[in-house]
Amino acid sequence: SDYLWFEGIPFPIIEYEKEIIEEIHNKFVFRDEDTVILTYPKSGTNWLIEIVCLIQTKGDPNWIQSVPIWDRSPWLESQGAYPLLINKEGPRLITSHLPFHIFPKSFFSSKAKIIYVIRNPRDVLVSGYFFWTMLSTLIPTVAYGSWFEHTRAWLSMRERDNFLLLSYEDIKKDTKSTIKKICDFLGKKLEPDELDMVFKYSSFQAMKENKMSNYSLITEDMAPNGLDLLRKGTTGDWKNHFTVAQAEAFDKVFQEKMAGFPLGLFLWE
Ligand code: A3P
Repeated sequence: SDYLWFEGIPFPIIEYEKEIIEEIHNKFVFRDEDTVILTYPKSGTNWLIEIVCLIQTKGDPNWIQSVPIWDRSPWLESQGAYPLLINKEGPRLITSHLPFHIFPKSFFSSKAKIIYVIRNPRDVLVSGYFFWTMLSTLIPTVAYGSWFEHTRAWLSMRERDNFLLLSYEDIKKDTKSTIKKICDFLGKKLEPDELDMVFKYSSFQAMKENKMSNYSLITEDMAPNGLDLLRKGTTGDWKNHFTVAQAEAFDKVFQEKMAGFPLGLFLWE
């Protein structure tokens, strides 16, 4: 199989090793100053990374324009990142897609912070379809398991002080307010002009043009025809791709899987 199964979750083996995932789960030590950007893939992960990096530099674009996005916020469960992260001093910015039950145990007794981003799963599906089709490693199953389980489990954390829940739709609708919310959560105070810079350099267009963030640095063997992360950047694109029957089938599954869950949290169309 082209997938590695760990605790019921499929990981593409090209990027993951079982020992590493096991070790991360059991031994990775969170520090109170760490910040994690946690998502189900294709929910706006890289957008959040860009925003948080810019908040850290108070809007100065030098860092985001000189260091690849995956080095600024290493991807916890990928092979290269783990040794890099454990040796890194000071506060760490970390990206992860891990489901709740596989996430490092140490997090739950630390003050490290998680920013969790949800997105309409229909748009996640469309975004993922286009993205993964560009990868040479495409395998016909969905990495990281079910969106429903990922979301349900992580959202059980939403009342905690060290957990910030955002949605792609809210960020899109009111980016500046969201940036302020993130600043408050991270304990950073920005001047209005600094906030404007964060806003400006994290826009869809700015990210699309930033080669450190748009995935154009991905090697040819991974994506022979290039990899376009900044595809469309809109909400509700699923309506252009789902048939009526598919939309109905999706609704049915959604109702089933999210039964008993406070659906007021999901305010997308
Ligand atoms: P689309 O494929 O719908 O365009 P991830 O970073 O989790 O892989 O998510 C990728 C999705 O986030 C893509 O969605 C991408 O366009 C969108 N995205 C990335 N940066 C963005 C930005 N600055 N503004 C709006 N959408 C952004």
